[in-house]
Amino acid sequence: MSSKDLHGEVFYPSEEVVKNANVPDWDALQKEAGEDYEKFWGKRAEELHWFKKWDKVLDDSDKPFYKWFTGGKTNIAYNCLDVHVKTHRRNKLALIWEGENGDMRMLSYYRLHRETCKFANVLRSLGVSKGDRVTIYMGRTPEIVMAMLACARIGAIHSVVYGGFSVEALHERIEDSKSKVLIVSDGAYLRGKIVPLKQIADEALKRAGGIEHVLVVKRTGQDINMEDGRDLWLHELMALPIATQNCALEITDAEDPLFMLYTSGTTGKPKAILHTHGGYMVGTYTTLKYVFDIKEEDRYWCAADPGWITGHSYIVYGPLLNGATSFMYEGAPTHPYPNRWWNLVEKYGINILYTAPTAIRGLMRFGDAWVNRHDLSSLRLLGSVGEPINPEAWKWYYKVVGNEKCPIMDTWWQTETGMFMITPMPSVPLKPGSGTKPFPGIEMDIFDENGNPVKDNEEGYLVIKTPWPAMIRTIYNDPDRYVEQYWKKYPGVYMTGDSAKRDEDGYIWVIGRVDDVIKVSGYRLGTAEIESALVSHPSVAEAAAIGLPHEVKGNAIYTYVILKQGVEPTEELKETLKNHVGHEVGPIAKPQQIKFVDSLPKTRSGKIMRRVLKAKELGVDPGNLSTLDES
Ligand code: WT7
Repeated sequence: MSSKDLHGEVFYPSEEVVKNANVPDWDALQKEAGEDYEKFWGKRAEELHWFKKWDKVLDDSDKPFYKWFTGGKTNIAYNCLDVHVKTHRRNKLALIWEGENGDMRMLSYYRLHRETCKFANVLRSLGVSKGDRVTIYMGRTPEIVMAMLACARIGAIHSVVYGGFSVEALHERIEDSKSKVLIVSDGAYLRGKIVPLKQIADEALKRAGGIEHVLVVKRTGQDINMEDGRDLWLHELMALPIATQNCALEITDAEDPLFMLYTSGTTGKPKAILHTHGGYMVGTYTTLKYVFDIKEEDRYWCAADPGWITGHSYIVYGPLLNGATSFMYEGAPTHPYPNRWWNLVEKYGINILYTAPTAIRGLMRFGDAWVNRHDLSSLRLLGSVGEPINPEAWKWYYKVVGNEKCPIMDTWWQTETGMFMITPMPSVPLKPGSGTKPFPGIEMDIFDENGNPVKDNEEGYLVIKTPWPAMIRTIYNDPDRYVEQYWKKYPGVYMTGDSAKRDEDGYIWVIGRVDDVIKVSGYRLGTAEIESALVSHPSVAEAAAIGLPHEVKGNAIYTYVILKQGVEPTEELKETLKNHVGHEVGPIAKPQQIKFVDSLPKTRSGKIMRRVLKAKELGVDPGNLSTLDES
């Protein structure tokens, strides 16, 4: 990809960047991986610790239930912590943290290992053992990292629910996962206020059974309800003799489940994407090292939330596997002023910043002066994820934040892929808005309806043709849905749910979702979740939700509601319904607009035709209407 005659607007890396990159020669890596991707991943896996080496890198005897590193024995938490504690990294900072209120904590590898072991012993004392599910519902504090790693250490399966979700979303996820223990913070600081996480959890637990213990982490310190026998303070248990720093490690099979993470699909309930210890470890370790070019002395900041896959792979596991120093910030980018992030970059000397287009657009709105007040010369590399980045935002990020010297890694991937799939590396020429090409060893294509590759610059379905180590293993408790959702449309080929184009240089341009998933501020929401929240209100008979373009959020949620007979369609009711969705799913799911309607466009089999609603709002051609029921 070093060619100097690419088409369109191209930003070439400086010689200095190429010379110092972990991968100075992309083409050579591509060649190595392209020739034999199993050998390629096997070689990367050797850089990590295995108690017993694998028998086979890839076992594809039961497609699409691919297995990686079968027969191998390891533990991802051991590779994240124990391995480093035995080296010069013992005293190195693993985590630097700043709270929104200015609190500050720094944890060395030694300290993070010790706290995690103590935490793991606390979990064991509550009866958690290998294979048990633990739901984690917390703000962004170091304890969320410890909680995840403590589960991994003892072979328990964590299910993190993003702290921005609310009562019903949490309830559904606790119930579906059949978790034994819930770990929750009392609250989290956001925009100068407290998000009452424990209170929301209490409400969710009234709807869900099965949780034996709630482990409460003190962060905000306001009064909360503690239920006798069920709720326990973490800090009290951590002070007991059971919480020693010696915690026997569970040696896991490469294919033992590590975590599940719920994400929205086309229909019905959110699905639990399952990832495992071995392949996920190799995938996140390698991609972070090559793409974000992690160096020993770097301070790396992924500004996502640990509650999403970005946080799992690239705040928690990827950086720790690499022995890196990660920075984590609790609150909002604009609190108390729009320079908070830039102040943090300067104050902590951040070298690598990874965020989402929606955040970039949001901060761009406040103008350059807020950025220019700060010395951002420590920055060496920038990253973007979550949705396509529009060239204006890319250029602002490149010029104003990166001072025209930081390559931007626009990484395309999904909860299901676990790791970067389409991404540049620092030595690769960039085109604003394109994630460039698939990561070496991964073959992707763009298909038409019949599974034939489309021509250059034509739009089609983005698919993945080769398995990769951090890939989804199944949907927890629903293997049929796993096959149906991802492998059915084109047999043997993974269907991403996105549409894309490829240009004459082979660069891929992702356009967006082709299913009923809406990306709001980079967050993935299902129309079904929003609709069922609306219908759960006593005044609503039927509802439909669509996403429409929004300048900062990428998409905003528009909804159409048929009220029950006799219910008055007032402005006040619209507000009530918006708040109801916020209360049930979470503030991110609040509709921008509610329209009261008498009917919804449906197919003759009764499916809502959301594309018709969308076309109408945008004033464009709704396409083929042959299935529309006009009776
Ligand atoms: C969907 C997956 C994986 C990180 C966070 C999102 C969209 C993600 C990009 C990008 C264009 C992107 C896709 C994808 N997406 N990154 N760099 N350029 N689109 O994970 O919540 O599972 O969402 O996010 O539509 O399918 P997720």
